[in-house]
Amino acid sequence: MHIDQATPAELQTALAELEQQHKHFIDQNVQLDLTRGKPSTAQLDLSNPLNNILGDSTHDDAGTDLRNYGVLDGIPAAKKLFGSILGVTDSDSSTRVFVGGNSSLSLMHYSLWFSYHLGLQANATSWRDEEQATGSTTKILCPSPGYDRHFSLCAQLGIEMIPVALTGNGPDMDQVEALVKADASIKGIWCVPRFSNPTGEVYNDETVSRLAALGQIAGDNFLVLWDNAYAVHSLSDAAPALSNIDEKAKALGTLDSVLQFGSTSKITFAGAGIGYIASSAANVKGFTQHFGMASIGSDKLNQLRHVRFLKDTTGVAAHMAQHAKIIAPKFAAVAESLESHIANTGMGEWSNPEGGYFVSFDTKPGLAKAVVALAAEAGVKLTPAGATFPNGNDPLNNNIRIAPSYPELADVEGAMAVFVNCVKLATVKQKLAE
Ligand SMILES: Cc1ncc(COP(=O)(O)O)c(C=O)c1O
Repeated sequence: MHIDQATPAELQTALAELEQQHKHFIDQNVQLDLTRGKPSTAQLDLSNPLNNILGDSTHDDAGTDLRNYGVLDGIPAAKKLFGSILGVTDSDSSTRVFVGGNSSLSLMHYSLWFSYHLGLQANATSWRDEEQATGSTTKILCPSPGYDRHFSLCAQLGIEMIPVALTGNGPDMDQVEALVKADASIKGIWCVPRFSNPTGEVYNDETVSRLAALGQIAGDNFLVLWDNAYAVHSLSDAAPALSNIDEKAKALGTLDSVLQFGSTSKITFAGAGIGYIASSAANVKGFTQHFGMASIGSDKLNQLRHVRFLKDTTGVAAHMAQHAKIIAPKFAAVAESLESHIANTGMGEWSNPEGGYFVSFDTKPGLAKAVVALAAEAGVKLTPAGATFPNGNDPLNNNIRIAPSYPELADVEGAMAVFVNCVKLATVKQKLAE
């Protein structure tokens, strides 16, 4: 049944059936969760060798005693390894990569905090000082739907968020360039360039080039906040590659405006991984100096564990292929359910990501909150509607993020059966109320 061609009688029949099915799901009393973009136990198990890999090693190849304080910016071997994931050449890695402790989100938090209050580089003007001088609030562009925690970082600092559209190949760069040119108080843009959270899109080469060049037209101290959280997280070898923004920015002389982040949270252990940054040498130096007020050094033994375990980009790729084997069937189950129940009904559209952790589903306008509430009633938790937009405000109230990585395959299938019924029920009810 296509929702826009259904007769009132057909809609009434459908409503009765869908309500009955919904009640059946409620009676089953399931408790399923599609909110958490975290690795499953089987994925975590892939990295258990990390636990014993050091034996009684205490020093790295450079002869540093890793048990002690110091080496604030990370051990050289870890800089090389993680720099290579972010496209930084080995020879640049010692000055242009920072390797920290667990969590790239905390590195993003520090970066925004330093930029806002202190200026990222030693003698840079802080965003806050510029606000005081110009009277204009600091603003950051937020391609939306996007990652809710990027938005909460901005909200915490009182930074104004400007939503910009995504095209399927990254942000709408005409819109981005026009905004950045017109307003020097726009100090950054959030980017999840490969397998975006939640749309799954991969920025194409032209978009990456134009983002790398933004530093040439933006106001002072502008940052492309390049959160490459899913850099190596493809579901198959056929997934599109991402162009190297570091190479492009280096060629353009805009490295100061590109701050890359990554972590092993979804490569090894989400709670005991390694976060890292790549940028210009001056930014990395400035970041390290500021960071030195908060720490005398990150966990270097864990850095060495990761270097021994993952070794190099080939090692990372082989390890990620094991992840894909576990996670791909869950994405296939989501796609299968949507394809069999929602395709050709006019009741929704969705992404078919080739990697990452999420599927983005768009209901008909005005229905995301209703679908999330119905699913909750039937025991399926979904990310709150609106969470994928700045300030929790999805203007069309139609985007829902589905995260299938953590539950077992059978639970993903069970949750999707509930989900598609909720989508249909909400859509039919809306149609009947027109
Ligand atoms: C886009 C994106 N960035 C960062 C993170 C969190 O990264 P970390 O665990 O390194 O703090 C996530 C987690 O879901 C994410 O989706």
